[in-house]
This record gives sequence, structure tokens and C-alpha cells, in this order.
Amino acid sequence: MAKIPESTIDEVLSKADIESVVGKYVSFTKKTGQNLFGLCPFHSEKTPSFSVNSQKGLYRCFGCGKGGNSIGFIMEIEKMSFPEAVKYLGDQYGVHVEWGEDDSKGASDLKERKKRVMNILTDAAGYYYKALNSNAGKAARDYAAKRQLSQKTLVSFGIGYAPDGFDNLYKFLKQKGYNDADLKDSGLFTVARNGNLIDLFRGRLIVPIFDAFGKIIAFGGRNLGAELPKYVNSPDSLVYKKKNHLYALNFAKQAKSKQLIIVEGYMDAIAMHQAGITNTVAALGTAFTDSQLQLASKYAEEVVFFFDSDNAGKNAALRASQMMLSYLRRMTGIKIRIRIAAVPNGKDPDEYIKNDGVEAFKAVVKSAKDVNDYLFSRAYDDNYDADSGLDQTKFQEDIITYGSWLYDPIKREKMAAQAAQYLGARSETIVSAMERAENDDISKKFTQDQRDIEREQNKEIEQRQQTSKTAAPKADIVTRDEMELFVRAVRIGPSLADAKRIARTDVLRKNDFGGENIKEVITFFLEHFDASKGVSEALLVNKLSEVLFNGMPAEKFYMAMCDKVPMESTPEAEIDMYKKTLYEVRGKKCSKELLKLQGRLNKEEDPAKKQELIANIEKLDKYYQLLQQKSEEL
Ligand code: UTP
Ligand code: MN
Repeated sequence: MAKIPESTIDEVLSKADIESVVGKYVSFTKKTGQNLFGLCPFHSEKTPSFSVNSQKGLYRCFGCGKGGNSIGFIMEIEKMSFPEAVKYLGDQYGVHVEWGEDDSKGASDLKERKKRVMNILTDAAGYYYKALNSNAGKAARDYAAKRQLSQKTLVSFGIGYAPDGFDNLYKFLKQKGYNDADLKDSGLFTVARNGNLIDLFRGRLIVPIFDAFGKIIAFGGRNLGAELPKYVNSPDSLVYKKKNHLYALNFAKQAKSKQLIIVEGYMDAIAMHQAGITNTVAALGTAFTDSQLQLASKYAEEVVFFFDSDNAGKNAALRASQMMLSYLRRMTGIKIRIRIAAVPNGKDPDEYIKNDGVEAFKAVVKSAKDVNDYLFSRAYDDNYDADSGLDQTKFQEDIITYGSWLYDPIKREKMAAQAAQYLGARSETIVSAMERAENDDISKKFTQDQRDIEREQNKEIEQRQQTSKTAAPKADIVTRDEMELFVRAVRIGPSLADAKRIARTDVLRKNDFGGENIKEVITFFLEHFDASKGVSEALLVNKLSEVLFNGMPAEKFYMAMCDKVPMESTPEAEIDMYKKTLYEVRGKKCSKELLKLQGRLNKEEDPAKKQELIANIEKLDKYYQLLQQKSEEL
């Protein structure tokens, strides 16, 4: 865990209120008591089992068991590390977050490695850029000219050239002082059988890939002639996961348009920027992903997709539509309009804009269909044949599949009504078929989601085991009573410090508990206890998020227990139940100890030691009686 001061974390947790943090992803449809309910963004479901509690600053899903505070939520949903999530929330809610030195060796090593990789990438970009303008770069300059890339475009997109040869870049970077391990991390080299590093990009026009903030995180290289493959791309690395980025977003976000145009190739994106259509980004050589949609939704209210009009492009359009609709169904708080456009005559945006001009292209953007209309047309066009007419069976199949993706009932009804004319069926019947298909799909997804969540959780558990300070076996053990006691102590809040209501001896102590992890948490709880406010549960959960209870992530265990421990009708009754639970926990510990002493007494021969043991037993027994009596008096 990174060393961000606890006061900062506390401040972030109190400012980044859970309702507004989660509300950006989930829309709440119901309120019960302190809880707001909505559909869970982490798994597929039709009725809300996901809730946030503003008072506690916590979220929890009764369906999949996920839960935590606002930092944990951002970590889960944005796939961020702890410090990244704190920083992300800090930026949004006006808390200055210092990235202090990391106290765990592993984490700080990684950060340093990433920093060195970023430096390598920046130096490499400089090298490529210079090479484009050197003698060796003539062929690449000619190629760029052939593609009508202006000087201005070459400069602002940082386009360069990787000279032919196996070690040009390698030599350059070695001379700059980088070592092989870091160069390997950069993704700019492949490793030969003899262990030598070989330049990945050779004889190619180089396009640096920036993140949303303009930092270079990878490269793409296009051939200048016919050699295959046409494009070579940096592999995923410490600093680059291609599924999380959109090419040219750093430029496109400056357009401040509500619309983001998404094209398949980065050369398309560059051509469009050059033509003045600066709200364009490109996917990065993979199928469009849900993290890319999530990223787009932060900058735009509408995305317009261009897919190639060949078969591969059409399949990609369908896959992307399904993925996006499924994503938006889960993320009920993300509102983004999806439209799909087709460039006429099988051209790609780059070619079209050059041949037919910007205005023609803008008209194509304008004519983009909403995803539901696009899907209807696909069902029709794909199954229509000029000779034999519409293949009704296949049309019906496609309509029901596509309709099942449309979670918006109005859009769905519209599609069904349109299809009804061709199918000679009532649209209600078609809607029911779509709903059935949807339900089947959700139960299938539910199982899949459950598996994914379990896998993620196992990874998390492993990680916590590794960073655990107490290597002792069974350090994570907590009994049900102990857990109930802890939950009740948190629940009664400031009363715990009120000596008139709770005697000092009746305040729970770390030694009331057996396991090391719970002891650590109790210590934290007592240290952070404020006599007037109790403890911030969101902060407590932050501590819990570092450890395991009975092999489970402790915060999940804790939250599940919060639901299980019954609420009493009055604050007084809560206090009484707290005490009762305390006496029970202490009583159990006592009788265990008594049993142990009795065992020792039975084996003891030395009369003096026997005497001592008997005295101890009597003392403990008295205490035990007292606990019993106090419990009965309640
Ligand atoms: P295209 O083949 O449509 O390329 O691939 P393009 O954008 O029209 O390229 P030009 O105009 O011929 O230069 C679209 C995207 O697919 C990925 C790249 O990201 C490319 O931008 N791709 C394509 C590869 O990664 N490798 C390849 O060999 C081909
Ligand atoms: Mn092209």
C-alpha cells in the first residue's frame, strides 16, 4: 500500500461522497432507509441488489458480494491501483494528493521501472522523429507525402521513422545509459534466441501512441511498401494496455465536442484531424472494448463509430454493438448515445475524406444511425436477397437476438413494431420473444460474472496474503461472536466513549480478540475513535481492505456481518446488546482458559505449583461468574 498520508485518505473519503462517486456509473431507482438501490455495475441482473449508504460512505451488492468505500469502488470500476484511485478522486473532489514514497518495496520498484520505461519511450520518439528528417528518412518522407500528411501533422503527431536495421534504436538508447532489462520492459525490442535485443520497428513510419494526457506509452509502425505485416504495434507493457486507450484522445478532448468519432485505424484518425475533424479517436488494433467506451463516456455524450464495410468490419460492428449495449445495461449511470456510420463504397474514412472532401464526410457523420436502427437495418439487409426476397426465418432470428440486446423497452418495442410488418406477427409477441432471449442471456452472464468475480477475489486474497505483516498461520481467524462484537461496537458509535453508559472496563480491547488481523483492526478502530463522532466506517473499511478475515477480504466479511447482526429497536437496546456480546466473547475466552488450566492442574505433581494453579482457576472462575451475572442483569 502506498504511503499516502492517512489524513489525505480520510479527507478524500469524506469529500468524495459515495452517492455522487457511484452515481456516475449507477442510477439509483429505489430508496430504503439509508440505502439507495440500483442495478449492480459489476454483474448482470434485472432487479437491483446494489446499494450505497451515504451515512456510512459504503457501497455493497447483495448479489455478488462486492462492497467497499468510494476509493474501493473506483479501484474496481476503473481498474486502478489504490494510489491511482485516491489521486483520481482527489482531483475530482478538490483534495491535493501527494504521492509519497512507497513503503512496500515491490510497489516502489514497479513505479521506478515504469518511470524508466516512460523515459525510454520519450527518448525513442525523439530518435524516430529525428530519423524521419535525416537522409535515411527520405523514403518515409516520400511515403508521408504520398499519404498527404502535412508538415504540421507530422510535427503535432510526433510522427517519425524507424530506420532499417536491427539495432539502430538499441545502440542509441544504450548510449543514453539504459540497461537491457529496462529496454526489454519498454516493448520496443524483441529478444533473439541468443538473448540479444532487436529493434521491433525497422524501416517503418512510426506513430507514437499517447495516453489521454499526451504521454507516449507505445508506438505503431506502418510499412512503406508491401512487406508484411502492414502494421507492427508495441505489445502491452508496464505502461500500456491497449484495451484501455483511445488513440488521439489527448488531441480530441481539446475539441471540447460532445461527440467523439471512433475509427478503426490511427492513420484514419490522423487524416481526420488534419482535415479539421478533430473530435476523432481510433481504437488500437483490437475489437473495441468496454474500457474504451468507459473512457469515451468521460469526454463525450455521443460516439459515432466507423467500421470498415467489409465482412470483418461488419462483424466487428455487431460485436461492438453487443458489447456496448451490454456494458450500458450494467452501467445504468453512464449515458452515452451510440451511433454507427458507414463510409460509402467500401472506403475507409481516410480515403473518403481525401477523395470526397470534408463536407461529404461530415454528411456521413450526420447520417449515422442510432445503434438500434443500425441493428434493425442489419437484420434486414443481411437477410435480404434481390432474387429471393427476405429470408423470414433468419430475419426473425436476428431481430430477436438484436432486440434482446436493447435494454431500453421503448427502443425494443420500436424494433419489434418495425419487424412485425415483415413477420406478420403481433409486436407484443416479438417483444416477449426478445425478453425471453434477454433473460436467458442474463442468467448465462450471471454465472460468467460470478466466476470472474471469484477469480478476481482469489487474486486479491493472494495479494493480501503476500503483503501481510503477520506471516503467522491462522492470523486471519475471527469468530462469529468476535465479529458481532466489532460490528456492534462500531454501530453504537460515540456511546462507547461515554463512561456513564459504558463502563471503561466494558470498552472492547484488542485482547478480547484472538486473531492477529482482527487485533490490528481493533487497534486501528480504537486509535481512530472520536468521542463525538465514533469512527468513519469508510475509513475503517480502508483499513479492512488490507487484510483477510477467515481467508476472505476483511471488508466483505465485515459488511456481510453488518447485514447479519440484527438491529435493535432503540439506542439503549443496541448498547445492551453490545455489552451482552462483549460478555459472551469474554466469557468464552474465560472458559477456554479455565479448561486449559484444569488440564494442567490434572497433570501437575508439584504441590506448590498445584496451589498456584488452583488460585488462578478460582480467580478466573470468579471473573467468569461476574460476566454471567452482568449478562443476566441486562
Ligand atoms: P487497416 O488495414 O484498415 O488499416 O487496419 P488502415 O487504417 O486503412 O491503414 P492504411 O490506411 O492502409 O495505412 C486498421 C487498424 O488495424 C490495425 C491497425 O491498428 C490499423 O490502424 N492493424 C492492421 C494492425 O494492427 N496490424 C495490421 O497488420 C493491420
Ligand atoms: Mn486506410
